[in-house]
This record gives sequence, C-alpha cells and structure tokens, in this order.
Amino acid sequence: MVAKTMDELVSLCKRRGFLFQSNDIYGGIKGLYDYGPMGVELKNNLKQAWWKSMVYERDDTEGLDASILSSPVVLKQSGHEDTFTDPLVDCKSCKSRWRADQLEDSKCPQCKSKDLTDPRPFNLMFKTAIGPVDDGTSFAYLRPETCQQIFTNFKNILDSTSRTIPFGIAQIGKAFRNEITPRNFIFRVREFEQMELEFFVEPGTDEKWHEYWVEKRIKWWIEQGIKKENLKKITVASSELAHYAKKTVDINYLFPHGLEELEGIANRTDFDLGSHTKNQSDFDIHSKVTKNTHSTTKLAVQKLDEKKWFIPFVIEPSAGVDRGILALLNEAYIEENTDKDNKRILLSLKPHLSPIKAAVIPLKKNNQEIVDLSKKIKSNLQKLGLGRVVLENSGNIGKNYRRHDEIGTPICLTVDFETLEDNSVTVRDRDSMKQNRVSIDNLSDYYKSYFN
Ligand code: GAP
Repeated sequence: MVAKTMDELVSLCKRRGFLFQSNDIYGGIKGLYDYGPMGVELKNNLKQAWWKSMVYERDDTEGLDASILSSPVVLKQSGHEDTFTDPLVDCKSCKSRWRADQLEDSKCPQCKSKDLTDPRPFNLMFKTAIGPVDDGTSFAYLRPETCQQIFTNFKNILDSTSRTIPFGIAQIGKAFRNEITPRNFIFRVREFEQMELEFFVEPGTDEKWHEYWVEKRIKWWIEQGIKKENLKKITVASSELAHYAKKTVDINYLFPHGLEELEGIANRTDFDLGSHTKNQSDFDIHSKVTKNTHSTTKLAVQKLDEKKWFIPFVIEPSAGVDRGILALLNEAYIEENTDKDNKRILLSLKPHLSPIKAAVIPLKKNNQEIVDLSKKIKSNLQKLGLGRVVLENSGNIGKNYRRHDEIGTPICLTVDFETLEDNSVTVRDRDSMKQNRVSIDNLSDYYKSYFN
C-alpha cells in the first residue's frame, strides 16, 4: 500500500525528523526545506547508492564536485541566460503571480479572476554579487543544473585521467531555480540536489547509448524499492524538448499528487561541448550552438583511426535527489492494523537506504551490565561500516519499536536479563515484527545478511 495523501508523508517527515520547512521559526520560506537527522541519513544513502552504481561499479566513469557559483559566460553559452524561463502572469485583481502553463481555465488559482496579464518570460536563475563591490558588473549565477561545470571541466578530466570515449562524468550537488510556484512538498523547490551523469559518446552511437541509459536507470530505481508499476517511461514531445535536446525520455513516477517526472534522460547531442569549445569552426558540429568568442579550450577528442578531431555527443541521465526521496518515502510508507486492533505505521525502506541500520535497546536502563553490553554491541556493529547504528537508552520498548518502524530501521536488538545468561539478544524484524534469539557471537553475520 502506498501513502494515501501527501499530508501523511509531510506529517511523518516532521514528526520523525526527516524534513522541516526551512527558516521555520521565522515563518519559513516557500520552496525551501531542511533535512533533519533521519532525512540527512536517507539522502546520503540514496546519493551513495547512485554513486556506487554510476562510478564504483563501472569502468568508464569519473566523478566531479564543481563549484555552485557559475560565471555568466558559462550560462550564456549554455543558453540559460536567454532561454531558461517560465511564462509568468500577474493577477490584476489580487496581485498574485503564477506560472501561465500551470493555470486551470486561465483563472487565478487564488481569487478565480480571469483578469490576468499576458504571459512574459521569467528567468529562473538566482544571481549573486562576487567580491566586495556590488555595482551589478561582477556577478555569478547559482547553477540551475549541475552539469554545466562537467562540460567546462571536460578537458581537465580527459587530461588528468587518460579516458577515451565512451566515458562519463558523474556529479551530485545542489542546483537552484527561482520557481514561480514551488509546490507539492519537496517535489518542486527552489534549492534541490541533482545526480547527473554526462556520458560522452561518438556521434552515431548516441541513440543506442540513450536507450541503454533509459533502461539502466529504470532498473536502478526499481532496485531502490520503487515498484515497476508506479514508473512510466514518457518520450518528451518534440515541441516540449529543451533547447539542447534531440530526444528526452522522462522516467515519471506516480507521486501522491500525480504522475510526474522523477528523472530525465536526454540526448544532448554535441550542443554543450560545441557551445563551450574554442574554435567552433574547426569542427563539424551537428547542433545549433551558441557562437563562442571567449573559450580558451578545445573540447574535442580525436578519432584514432582517422586522426580527425570531433566533438562528442552527450547522453545525460539527470535525477532529482529530493524527488527520489519523496518517491521512496511514498513507496515505503505502510499503515497497517496490528493484531491488537492498533494501527502501526512503518517505512519499509530497503535496508541500504534506511537512515538507521539497527537500534540496540537495553531493556533495563538502570542495569549497568545490560547497558554496558548494549553499548559494546552497538559499537561492534557500528564498526562494520554499513551505516548508522544507535543505542536507544530512553523510552519503553514498545515506543522504541514504534519509532523505529516509522523511521524504517530494519532491525531492533534487545538486550535483556536472559542475555546475561545465554549470550544472545532478541532481534525484531521491522516488516514481519517476528522476533528471534540470536547469539551475540553470530550477530555480525546476522546483521550483515540484511544488507546483502
Ligand atoms: N541537466 C538537465 C536538467 O537539469 P531537468 O529536467 O530540468 O534537467 C533534472 O532536471 C531533474 O532535476 C528532474 O528530473 C527533477 O528530478 C529535478 N528537478 C528539476 N527541477 C526541480 C525542482 N524545482 N525541484 C526539485 N527537483 C527538481
């Protein structure tokens, strides 16, 4: 069963420390959220799973962590200064502002008036001053997508790693968009994270690689716990394609508010490297690039057999971390009746994503021997390096189980008086609630088996 409403997820996220409205104590800022103690663990685990799949498990990719502040020249060349806009309308009656393409029946969602201005383009990029003098001449943009610095670092990475195409550059990081109407919790926000791979290929092989990445990415989301039937592949209509794309397939997910984009896989052709390269006229560039008179570097590779230089095509799987978190929470959220006619809520997350991997609970908080042994078990499991293990030294056992069900902890280990006699602990499984005794000597193997 998936969550019935977004409200249930929002409530769980606040109650259990996954997500908070940002700047909450001062009234909050729309479209910004802070990840709390459980949220940061879940987010890190999701990013780690992506990095593992996109970098560590492959032999044809490298990683990057580039700056967020971006030169206006980069975003001029990329097309963002001129085209990264949404259509903005003002309601003349109540003075509110909206995205024209999201209105129903061309009515103001607030006061229902149809007296709206004509749509005008609103650039979504945030600007900030660089240096101590803010006279408008020296500024930077907060990057609206993580990939542009992958393109500007293309030559640096080629030279420092001796890669040959096909190969990819992966990056995870913040992106910023001044969305006109942020909405649906963390689905559409103004500050978010992206996990992007730019995979450089020879022209002519691009369509094959595009198909490869679409299938690979769908498989990965399923491995993270998303049900196949809640994912849908949508080929973006040519009239809706971004200025850089020849083809884009979106992986849409059935969010609580409807079927919407979770990740996009674009065939960006040679637009990006072609727009950022020096000496554009030296190359046979396929796409309509932005004329470049500033670049100092050729962003091309050599075809070894023909000794000819060319600009590679790029296939880009681009996933939103925050949308991933929302989808995973939605998938994992289960409300069920327990045998005593009580309701329980659990997050049935895949163990590798769970914020807490195991909770060690001393049954008697005032029994030093039990507490010391619990600390030792916690420390030993923590050393296995599979993620955060906690010692639960407050509350009763029922409350602890409830809390850990709701944050998705796969197992709780209880140390009791019997433990002191038989050297075993009670292990409770989150999903089945089944309990069994496991010898402390076998605990590491037992614990590790949850993550294989
Ligand atoms: N580099 C390509 C690119 O940025 P995009 O479709 O604009 O493409 C990629 O964004 C992904 O980033 C989306 O599929 C979505 O998951 C995430 N994303 C985009 N805008 C977002 C926003 N305002 N809030 C949260 N996530 C967003």
